Amino acid sequence: MRIAVAGGTGSVGRHVVEALRARGHEPLVLSRGQGVDLLAVSGLDAALTGAEVVVDVSNISATGKAAAVSFFDRAGRNLTEAARRAGVRHLVSLSIVGVDRVKLGYYTGKLRQEEIVKAAGVPWTILRATQFHEFAGQFLSGIPGPLALVPTGRVQPVAAWEVGEALADLATGSPQRMAPELAGPQIESLPDMARRLIAAGGARKRPVLPLHLPGGMSAGHLVPTGPGPRGTQTFAEWLKQQSW
Ligand SMILES: NC(=O)c1ccc[n+]([C@@H]2O[C@H](COP(=O)([O-])OP(=O)(O)OC[C@H]3O[C@@H](n4cnc5c(N)ncnc54)[C@H](OP(=O)(O)O)[C@@H]3O)[C@@H](O)[C@H]2O)c1
Repeated sequence: MRIAVAGGTGSVGRHVVEALRARGHEPLVLSRGQGVDLLAVSGLDAALTGAEVVVDVSNISATGKAAAVSFFDRAGRNLTEAARRAGVRHLVSLSIVGVDRVKLGYYTGKLRQEEIVKAAGVPWTILRATQFHEFAGQFLSGIPGPLALVPTGRVQPVAAWEVGEALADLATGSPQRMAPELAGPQIESLPDMARRLIAAGGARKRPVLPLHLPGGMSAGHLVPTGPGPRGTQTFAEWLKQQSW
């Protein structure tokens, strides 16, 4: 089956593409690096030719509310409208556990993306997952300066490859609407993950200062509140596997 993967070169997208190929499907990568910009309408129709399913794992690295809402709104509308025109029969979108509880910054953009998927007129599945093990590195890379201020609070990180496998399963199954939330095997703290990543050589060496932020991660909103599938690889196991 031909399956378009928007963001198919990203942290999770590359694993979605690998998992689909391993199952004998034909992934089509939509990314600017591959000549397809979700923020431009032109090019999307041609890019979706023959696609039966679309998986959206695109992203903007900015964490501010205005930039995130603008990206997820425009990219979401462009992609879902092109999917409807192309006769796509299943739209799969990756969201974040707690996105409806946080209501701040970047998460507002993700909530907008969910609303667009639900209203798109194409049968859909939304998978909410927790932060990836890769998130500590992504977070640190967005902080300039000699110190890293990192929010306190509980996270339950999952390996991006396990999210990629779950998305490939969903993409090749029937539309589920809200899929059960996916999280990692154990609770961690982001400042601790950041320190361990730095100690392992996976990020620039500098002191990490925990910062309590009202709402969001510090309030524990980003861990699941109910049962659901759990990844198996811990952050420690994932860290050991990396080579920098
Ligand atoms: N990171 C996490 O911990 C985490 C946890 C749960 C859910 N999620 C969700 O998972 C999704 C993917 O996150 P990620 O961390 O894997 O992202 P990422 O590593 O930043 O990758 C983003 C992908 O989107 C593509 N992209 C960005 N702008 C684009 C545009 N205008 N047109 C076409 N493609 C574009 C990028 O390719 P080009 O740059 O070549 O365009 C890249 O393939 C996001 O929606 C995020 O909210 C992330």
